[in-house]
Parts: sequence; structure tokens; C-alpha cells
Amino acid sequence: MAKPRVIIPKKEIDKKVAELAIELRKDYRGKNPLLIGILKGSFVFMSDLVRAMNIPVEIDFVRLASYGAGKDSSGKIKLIKDVETQVKGRHVLVVEDIIDRGITVRFLLDYLRFRNPASLKLCALFDKPSRRKVEVPIDYVGFTVPDAFVVGYGLDFDEKYRYLPNLCILEE
Ligand code: IMP
Ligand code: MG
Repeated sequence: MAKPRVIIPKKEIDKKVAELAIELRKDYRGKNPLLIGILKGSFVFMSDLVRAMNIPVEIDFVRLASYGAGKDSSGKIKLIKDVETQVKGRHVLVVEDIIDRGITVRFLLDYLRFRNPASLKLCALFDKPSRRKVEVPIDYVGFTVPDAFVVGYGLDFDEKYRYLPNLCILEE
């Protein structure tokens, strides 16, 4: 049975979320931005982020999945749940838990750009740059994490561990 080992305690995550929120508040004040979270992993980050930002925003979610379960999947993305809000003319901020190969978020950014938002940016709490397969510019990034599978703070392994408050590495 794999055992989670804490690599980023909740206190540090909170501090980083507060810093990101200050920057976002400055950049998006008066713009009524549309924050689009990628389910399911971003749900914890999104809820902490919007409260820390504390300016009027709208939120929506999409659900994307790569085929197959487990730590590595094929790289084909499917859209399971679309945005429900009109994207055209909106200041859109995509909120993602972690950028790994970059494939998921690349797909979504291309999909949303096609719908003519007024602006389109990406905010990711965790970044694993060593694993990148496709290039994605991350406008707001929290932490760079090592090339290891991480769980907690919304992130799962096979639907487990999302509830853990700290970011952990799964050890055998
Ligand atoms: P990408 O398409 O490889 O960038 O995959 C990104 C998605 O895979 C994220 O939205 C996560 O849901 C998931 N993912 C990637 N790395 C991890 C990890 O270390 N822990 C948990 N989920 C991960
Ligand atoms: Mg995700």
C-alpha cells in the first residue's frame, strides 16, 4: 500500500494561494473575470483562490479526461463536461491543479481560444516542468514540483487522497 509523505504543508499552500490572489486581484479588478476550473483536481484550489481574491468573479468548470486511469495515460483528451457560460468577450482564467505533460491544458486553451474570449490566461498551483511534452505558457504559477506523483489538496491517485490537506508524494 502506497504511503503519502508530505512535501508541501497546507500552511505553505495557503501562503502561496494568498500571494497568487493578490496578483490576480490586481490584474482582474473591475473585469468580472470568468474562472474556469478543470475538474476534478482543481476544486480545492479554485475554492480557496476565489475567496482569497475577494473581488467579483464568475466561475465555471469543465471536466476533461485522458483515456485510461492510473499515473500515465495515452494523451488523448476528451471533454466530458463543457463550460456553461458564454466565453466570447470574457476575460477567462483557466484554473488548474497541476501541469504535467501539458496536454490537458493545451487542449482546453485551444478549445477556449476558438470561442473568442477577450483574454485567456492560465493559473496553475503546481508545475512539473520536467515532464512537459507540449509547450504551455503558465501566466500564474504556484510551486514547481519534482518529477514524482503527488496527491492531496484536490489531487488524486485513482480517486483517492483528494481530501488530504497537504501536498504529498506517494511512496511505495
Ligand atoms: P497533463 O495533460 O499530463 O499535463 O496532465 C494533467 C492532469 O493530469 C492534471 O490535470 C491532473 O489531473 C493529472 N496529474 C498530472 N500529474 C499528476 C500528479 O502528480 N498527481 C495527480 N494528478 C496528476
Ligand atoms: Mg486535473
